[in-house]
Amino acid sequence: MTSPLSKAKSQAEAEREQDYAAAREKHLSAAGDALVRLDDVFAGYVPGVNILNGCDLHCDEGELVGIIGPNGAGKSTLLKAMLGMVDVRSGSITLRGDDITGAKAHQLVAKGVGFVPQTNNVFPRLTIEENLQMGLYHEPKKFSERFDYVAELFPALKTRRKQRAGSLSGGERQMVAMGRALMPNPSVLLLDEPSAGLSPALQDEVFIRCRQINATGVSIIMVEQNARRCLQICDRGYVLDQGRNAYTASGKDLMNDPKVIELYLGTLAKA
Ligand SMILES: Nc1ncnc2c1ncn2[C@@H]1O[C@H](COP(=O)(O)OP(=O)(O)O)[C@@H](O)[C@H]1O
Ligand SMILES: [Mg+2]
Repeated sequence: MTSPLSKAKSQAEAEREQDYAAAREKHLSAAGDALVRLDDVFAGYVPGVNILNGCDLHCDEGELVGIIGPNGAGKSTLLKAMLGMVDVRSGSITLRGDDITGAKAHQLVAKGVGFVPQTNNVFPRLTIEENLQMGLYHEPKKFSERFDYVAELFPALKTRRKQRAGSLSGGERQMVAMGRALMPNPSVLLLDEPSAGLSPALQDEVFIRCRQINATGVSIIMVEQNARRCLQICDRGYVLDQGRNAYTASGKDLMNDPKVIELYLGTLAKA
Protein backbone atom coordinates (compact mmCIF):
# COMPACT_ATOMS: atom_id res chain seq x y z
CA MET A 1 0.00 0.00 0.00
CA THR A 2 1.25 3.51 -0.73
CA SER A 3 1.67 5.71 2.29
CA PRO A 4 -0.05 9.12 2.39
CA LEU A 5 3.39 10.73 2.31
CA SER A 6 4.55 8.97 -0.84
CA LYS A 7 1.16 9.68 -2.42
CA ALA A 8 1.55 13.41 -1.71
CA LYS A 9 5.08 13.25 -3.04
CA SER A 10 4.12 11.63 -6.30
CA GLN A 11 1.28 14.15 -6.69
CA ALA A 12 3.75 17.01 -6.24
CA GLU A 13 6.03 15.40 -8.81
CA ALA A 14 3.17 15.02 -11.27
CA GLU A 15 2.30 18.70 -10.79
CA ARG A 16 5.89 19.67 -11.39
CA GLU A 17 5.96 17.65 -14.60
CA GLN A 18 2.89 19.56 -15.72
CA ASP A 19 4.65 22.85 -14.96
CA TYR A 20 7.69 21.79 -16.99
CA ALA A 21 5.47 20.76 -19.89
CA ALA A 22 3.61 24.08 -19.78
CA ALA A 23 6.89 26.02 -19.71
CA ARG A 24 8.14 24.06 -22.73
CA GLU A 25 4.96 24.77 -24.66
CA LYS A 26 5.34 28.48 -23.92
CA HIS A 27 8.96 28.33 -25.08
CA LEU A 28 8.12 26.58 -28.34
CA SER A 29 5.43 29.07 -29.23
CA ALA A 30 7.45 32.17 -28.28
CA ALA A 31 11.12 31.44 -29.09
CA GLY A 32 10.92 31.77 -32.90
CA ASP A 33 14.14 33.22 -34.32
CA ALA A 34 15.32 34.68 -31.01
CA LEU A 35 18.84 36.14 -30.71
CA VAL A 36 19.86 33.31 -28.36
CA ARG A 37 17.93 30.09 -28.18
CA LEU A 38 18.43 26.89 -26.17
CA ASP A 39 16.29 23.85 -26.85
CA ASP A 40 16.09 20.74 -24.68
CA VAL A 41 19.68 21.06 -23.46
CA PHE A 42 21.22 18.27 -21.38
CA ALA A 43 24.65 19.02 -19.95
CA GLY A 44 26.90 17.97 -17.11
CA TYR A 45 30.42 17.74 -15.75
CA VAL A 46 30.74 14.11 -14.74
CA PRO A 47 29.97 11.29 -17.19
CA GLY A 48 26.48 9.94 -16.64
CA VAL A 49 25.32 12.83 -14.46
CA ASN A 50 23.32 15.59 -16.09
CA ILE A 51 22.95 18.94 -14.37
CA LEU A 52 20.81 20.47 -17.11
CA ASN A 53 17.91 18.17 -17.81
CA GLY A 54 16.16 19.43 -20.91
CA CYS A 55 16.55 23.15 -20.46
CA ASP A 56 14.88 25.64 -22.83
CA LEU A 57 15.49 29.36 -22.98
CA HIS A 58 15.35 32.23 -25.39
CA CYS A 59 16.44 35.85 -25.39
CA ASP A 60 15.11 38.23 -28.02
CA GLU A 61 17.09 41.13 -29.47
CA GLY A 62 17.12 43.92 -26.88
CA GLU A 63 15.65 41.83 -24.08
CA LEU A 64 16.81 41.64 -20.47
CA VAL A 65 16.18 38.08 -19.34
CA GLY A 66 16.56 37.00 -15.71
CA ILE A 67 17.10 33.47 -14.43
CA ILE A 68 16.38 32.69 -10.80
CA GLY A 69 16.23 29.42 -8.90
CA PRO A 70 17.49 27.72 -5.78
CA ASN A 71 21.17 27.11 -5.12
CA GLY A 72 22.45 24.21 -7.16
CA ALA A 73 19.57 24.44 -9.66
CA GLY A 74 22.08 24.71 -12.50
CA LYS A 75 22.01 28.47 -13.17
CA SER A 76 25.78 28.85 -13.57
CA THR A 77 25.87 25.59 -15.53
CA LEU A 78 23.30 27.03 -17.92
CA LEU A 79 25.55 30.02 -18.66
CA LYS A 80 28.57 27.71 -18.95
CA ALA A 81 26.66 25.54 -21.45
CA MET A 82 26.12 28.62 -23.64
CA LEU A 83 29.86 29.33 -23.47
CA GLY A 84 31.14 25.84 -24.29
CA MET A 85 32.51 25.47 -20.75
CA VAL A 86 30.56 22.33 -19.90
CA ASP A 87 29.80 19.21 -21.92
CA VAL A 88 26.50 19.66 -23.77
CA ARG A 89 25.22 16.11 -24.33
CA SER A 90 22.13 16.82 -26.35
CA GLY A 91 19.88 19.65 -27.41
CA SER A 92 20.87 22.76 -29.33
CA ILE A 93 22.08 26.29 -28.68
CA THR A 94 21.83 28.91 -31.41
CA LEU A 95 22.89 32.53 -31.81
CA ARG A 96 20.99 34.40 -34.53
CA GLY A 97 20.00 31.00 -35.88
CA ASP A 98 23.62 29.73 -36.11
CA ASP A 99 24.37 26.58 -34.16
CA ILE A 100 26.90 27.46 -31.44
CA THR A 101 26.54 24.27 -29.38
CA GLY A 102 29.97 23.47 -27.96
CA ALA A 103 31.63 26.59 -29.45
CA LYS A 104 34.46 27.87 -27.28
CA ALA A 105 34.39 31.10 -25.31
CA HIS A 106 36.92 32.92 -27.54
CA GLN A 107 34.92 32.04 -30.68
CA LEU A 108 31.82 33.37 -29.00
CA VAL A 109 33.46 36.69 -28.09
CA ALA A 110 34.10 37.18 -31.82
CA LYS A 111 30.44 36.42 -32.49
CA GLY A 112 29.29 39.05 -30.00
CA VAL A 113 28.79 37.17 -26.74
CA GLY A 114 30.12 38.79 -23.56
CA PHE A 115 30.44 36.94 -20.25
CA VAL A 116 30.99 38.08 -16.67
CA PRO A 117 31.69 35.09 -14.39
CA GLN A 118 30.55 35.30 -10.78
CA THR A 119 34.02 35.14 -9.25
CA ASN A 120 37.61 35.87 -10.29
CA ASN A 121 36.30 38.18 -12.97
CA VAL A 122 39.09 40.79 -12.93
CA PHE A 123 42.88 40.61 -13.18
CA PRO A 124 43.79 42.02 -9.74
CA ARG A 125 47.42 42.88 -10.59
CA LEU A 126 46.46 44.86 -13.66
CA THR A 127 45.12 48.40 -13.67
CA ILE A 128 41.55 49.20 -14.60
CA GLU A 129 42.73 50.34 -18.00
CA GLU A 130 44.75 47.15 -18.56
CA ASN A 131 41.75 45.04 -17.54
CA LEU A 132 39.68 46.82 -20.16
CA GLN A 133 42.44 46.31 -22.74
CA MET A 134 42.29 42.57 -22.03
CA GLY A 135 38.67 42.68 -23.09
CA LEU A 136 39.70 44.04 -26.48
CA TYR A 137 43.01 42.23 -27.02
CA HIS A 138 41.97 41.14 -30.52
CA GLU A 139 41.04 44.68 -31.69
CA PRO A 140 43.34 47.10 -29.84
CA LYS A 141 42.74 49.92 -32.34
CA LYS A 142 39.19 50.29 -31.15
CA PHE A 143 40.27 50.90 -27.57
CA SER A 144 39.62 54.62 -27.24
CA GLU A 145 36.21 54.46 -28.92
CA ARG A 146 35.06 51.57 -26.73
CA PHE A 147 36.66 53.06 -23.63
CA ASP A 148 34.53 56.18 -24.13
CA TYR A 149 31.39 54.04 -24.27
CA VAL A 150 32.30 52.11 -21.11
CA ALA A 151 33.39 55.28 -19.27
CA GLU A 152 30.01 56.84 -19.99
CA LEU A 153 28.33 53.91 -18.23
CA PHE A 154 30.92 53.73 -15.43
CA PRO A 155 32.56 57.17 -15.03
CA ALA A 156 34.67 55.98 -12.08
CA LEU A 157 36.57 53.63 -14.39
CA LYS A 158 37.89 56.62 -16.30
CA THR A 159 38.95 58.73 -13.35
CA ARG A 160 40.66 55.75 -11.71
CA ARG A 161 41.99 54.06 -14.82
CA LYS A 162 45.56 53.76 -13.48
CA GLN A 163 44.51 52.06 -10.25
CA ARG A 164 45.08 48.34 -9.81
CA ALA A 165 41.87 46.29 -9.90
CA GLY A 166 42.99 44.36 -6.81
CA SER A 167 42.77 47.51 -4.71
CA LEU A 168 39.12 48.13 -5.57
CA SER A 169 36.00 47.28 -3.54
CA GLY A 170 33.73 44.41 -4.60
CA GLY A 171 31.27 46.78 -6.25
CA GLU A 172 33.98 48.59 -8.18
CA ARG A 173 35.46 45.31 -9.32
CA GLN A 174 32.08 44.26 -10.62
CA MET A 175 32.01 47.46 -12.70
CA VAL A 176 35.47 46.62 -14.11
CA ALA A 177 34.33 43.10 -14.97
CA MET A 178 31.23 44.38 -16.72
CA GLY A 179 33.25 47.08 -18.46
CA ARG A 180 35.75 44.50 -19.71
CA ALA A 181 32.97 42.31 -21.11
CA LEU A 182 31.47 45.35 -22.85
CA MET A 183 34.70 46.44 -24.56
CA PRO A 184 34.28 44.19 -27.64
CA ASN A 185 30.77 45.61 -28.21
CA PRO A 186 28.82 42.42 -27.54
CA SER A 187 25.25 41.98 -28.73
CA VAL A 188 24.44 39.84 -25.73
CA LEU A 189 25.93 39.91 -22.24
CA LEU A 190 25.77 36.90 -19.91
CA LEU A 191 26.00 37.85 -16.23
CA ASP A 192 26.43 35.33 -13.42
CA GLU A 193 25.07 36.78 -10.18
CA PRO A 194 26.38 40.32 -10.66
CA SER A 195 24.98 41.48 -7.31
CA ALA A 196 26.39 38.62 -5.19
CA GLY A 197 28.40 39.69 -2.18
CA LEU A 198 27.55 43.39 -2.51
CA SER A 199 25.84 45.67 0.01
CA PRO A 200 22.16 46.44 -0.71
CA ALA A 201 23.04 49.92 -2.02
CA LEU A 202 25.65 48.53 -4.39
CA GLN A 203 23.31 45.76 -5.47
CA ASP A 204 20.83 48.44 -6.48
CA GLU A 205 23.52 50.20 -8.44
CA VAL A 206 24.41 47.01 -10.31
CA PHE A 207 20.78 46.47 -11.29
CA ILE A 208 20.45 50.09 -12.46
CA ARG A 209 23.63 49.70 -14.54
CA CYS A 210 22.26 46.54 -16.10
CA ARG A 211 19.16 48.41 -17.21
CA GLN A 212 21.33 51.22 -18.58
CA ILE A 213 23.53 48.79 -20.50
CA ASN A 214 20.40 47.12 -21.85
CA ALA A 215 19.04 50.54 -22.90
CA THR A 216 22.11 51.02 -25.13
CA GLY A 217 20.94 48.01 -27.14
CA VAL A 218 22.83 45.15 -25.47
CA SER A 219 20.65 42.11 -24.76
CA ILE A 220 21.27 40.63 -21.32
CA ILE A 221 20.84 37.17 -19.83
CA MET A 222 21.34 37.47 -16.09
CA VAL A 223 21.46 34.79 -13.41
CA GLU A 224 20.63 36.14 -9.96
CA GLN A 225 20.31 35.08 -6.34
CA ASN A 226 18.51 38.32 -5.54
CA ALA A 227 15.37 36.93 -7.08
CA ARG A 228 12.88 39.67 -6.33
CA ARG A 229 15.12 42.50 -7.49
CA CYS A 230 16.02 40.58 -10.62
CA LEU A 231 12.37 40.01 -11.50
CA GLN A 232 11.66 43.71 -10.91
CA ILE A 233 14.12 44.81 -13.56
CA CYS A 234 13.99 42.05 -16.17
CA ASP A 235 11.66 41.96 -19.14
CA ARG A 236 11.16 38.24 -18.80
CA GLY A 237 12.21 35.71 -16.23
CA TYR A 238 12.77 32.00 -15.84
CA VAL A 239 12.62 29.90 -12.71
CA LEU A 240 15.16 27.12 -13.06
CA ASP A 241 14.63 24.03 -10.94
CA GLN A 242 16.60 20.78 -11.14
CA GLY A 243 18.14 21.80 -14.44
CA ARG A 244 14.89 22.65 -16.21
CA ASN A 245 12.71 25.69 -16.52
CA ALA A 246 9.71 25.30 -14.31
CA TYR A 247 8.18 28.70 -15.07
CA THR A 248 8.63 31.56 -17.50
CA ALA A 249 6.72 34.82 -17.76
CA SER A 250 7.28 38.55 -17.46
CA GLY A 251 9.22 39.47 -14.34
CA LYS A 252 6.11 41.09 -12.90
CA ASP A 253 3.89 38.08 -13.51
CA LEU A 254 6.42 35.71 -11.96
CA MET A 255 6.70 37.92 -8.89
CA ASN A 256 2.95 37.75 -8.41
CA ASP A 257 2.54 34.06 -9.23
CA PRO A 258 1.45 32.33 -5.99
CA LYS A 259 3.29 29.13 -6.95
CA VAL A 260 6.54 30.96 -7.63
CA ILE A 261 6.19 32.86 -4.37
CA GLU A 262 5.49 29.72 -2.40
CA LEU A 263 8.19 27.58 -3.94
CA TYR A 264 10.98 30.05 -4.69
CA LEU A 265 10.51 33.65 -3.62
CA GLY A 266 9.64 32.91 -0.01
CA THR A 267 13.17 31.80 0.77
CA LEU A 268 15.06 33.36 -2.12
CA ALA A 269 13.79 36.87 -1.53
CA LYS A 270 15.38 37.05 1.89
CA ALA A 271 18.80 37.26 0.22
N1 LIG B 1 32.88 21.85 -12.02
C1 LIG B 1 31.93 21.04 -11.55
N2 LIG B 1 32.11 19.70 -11.49
C2 LIG B 1 31.15 18.87 -11.02
N3 LIG B 1 29.94 19.29 -10.59
C3 LIG B 1 29.69 20.61 -10.62
C4 LIG B 1 30.67 21.56 -11.10
N4 LIG B 1 30.12 22.79 -11.02
C5 LIG B 1 28.88 22.63 -10.52
N5 LIG B 1 28.61 21.33 -10.29
C6 LIG B 1 27.35 20.80 -9.76
O1 LIG B 1 26.29 21.17 -10.62
C7 LIG B 1 25.12 21.50 -9.87
C8 LIG B 1 24.61 22.85 -10.30
O2 LIG B 1 25.59 23.83 -10.00
P1 LIG B 1 25.47 25.33 -10.48
O3 LIG B 1 25.17 25.37 -11.92
O4 LIG B 1 26.69 26.00 -10.01
O5 LIG B 1 24.17 25.82 -9.67
P2 LIG B 1 23.66 27.32 -9.34
O6 LIG B 1 24.49 28.27 -10.12
O7 LIG B 1 22.21 27.31 -9.73
O8 LIG B 1 23.80 27.46 -7.85
C9 LIG B 1 25.50 21.39 -8.40
O9 LIG B 1 25.01 20.16 -7.92
C10 LIG B 1 27.00 21.42 -8.42
O10 LIG B 1 27.52 20.66 -7.36
MG1 LIG C 1 25.83 29.81 -9.62
